Amino acid sequence: MNPLEYIFPGIIAAQGIHAAVELRIPDLLAAGPKTAAELASECGADPETLERLLRALASLEIFDCTEDGRYKNTEFGDVLREDHPESQRDGGMFLAAPFLWRPLGELAESVRTGKPSFNAMFGQSFFDYLADHAEDAALFNRVMTQGIAWTAPALLKAYDFSRFKRLVDVGGGQGALLRELLVATPKLKGVLFDLPAVVAGAVTILQNGVAGRAEIVGGNFFESVPEGGDCYLLKGVLHDWGDEDSVKILGNVRKAIRPDGTLLLMESLIDSDERPAGLGDLLMLVIGGRDRSQADFRRLLAETGFTLTRVIPAVATSLIECHPA
Ligand SMILES: C[S@@+](CC[C@H](N)C(=O)[O-])C[C@H]1O[C@@H](n2cnc3c(N)ncnc32)[C@H](O)[C@@H]1O
Repeated sequence: MNPLEYIFPGIIAAQGIHAAVELRIPDLLAAGPKTAAELASECGADPETLERLLRALASLEIFDCTEDGRYKNTEFGDVLREDHPESQRDGGMFLAAPFLWRPLGELAESVRTGKPSFNAMFGQSFFDYLADHAEDAALFNRVMTQGIAWTAPALLKAYDFSRFKRLVDVGGGQGALLRELLVATPKLKGVLFDLPAVVAGAVTILQNGVAGRAEIVGGNFFESVPEGGDCYLLKGVLHDWGDEDSVKILGNVRKAIRPDGTLLLMESLIDSDERPAGLGDLLMLVIGGRDRSQADFRRLLAETGFTLTRVIPAVATSLIECHPA
């Protein structure tokens, strides 16, 4: 694809998908093809305008138009249904939601100032904002949970967790990854650690089958993290933060980890041979974080008393294995 082609469809495509998902069109088409008029009466839209949206998304292969003028889901439309086993519905809602596209719209300002446009726009940092906006926070948490279905198999294939006794998932969201690790590793015990409001939504995920081996702890990793684990996992956590904050988080993990423990960071490396971090770094920029190189991690780790021992590719990201120095 000619890179300049992104200029035209990119934002419009994302907003078009967002609108269709918000109107629940993929769900309404689950039972079979429908006309724009039928869909419009079901979702409360203007029939002519809805037809324009459906036509535009048919050009992106989200929907198909049948010979008799009805619309149906393609495989991509199907995955935007709420009840699809690998649903990307929340993914379709995510980047095009105002709390993300608006600061992304101010990317040039972030590049100019080196500061997160999110903070300038909303007057607070990203996670403080989520603490005050329950609906956006719920969407964020669901997107994180959905993402685990894609990353957990790669992580389990890339790394043997059976050598550990007690794994602490720091910033582990609502426990979807910890659950997968515990299911795959029958002798492992796990601690889910995240903000109290986030772990409040973890109970159902960590119930069936693993409840006896999963502990849920709410707290703030800038203050402390649970002690005594022989493995600390931080997946997609440090990229949310600048260096000063990352050093504080790693410093607290260093205080809590056993001397013979292992720290695992799961991050997109900007200099990975397999899959270098790409546009995600710009999203991190506007919310106040950054993707990093191996050398950046070595420096942060050295500053906080860790040594980087190996980097293991894990499909979309890299697993960075570290030990207390
Ligand atoms: C990008 S998400 C990653 C979630 C999960 N590890 C994953 O990969 O799906 C970062 C997580 O850090 C958590 N977090 C942010 N600030 C925190 C804090 N001060 N203390 C503990 N957790 C925090 C967020 O609630 C969120 O769940």
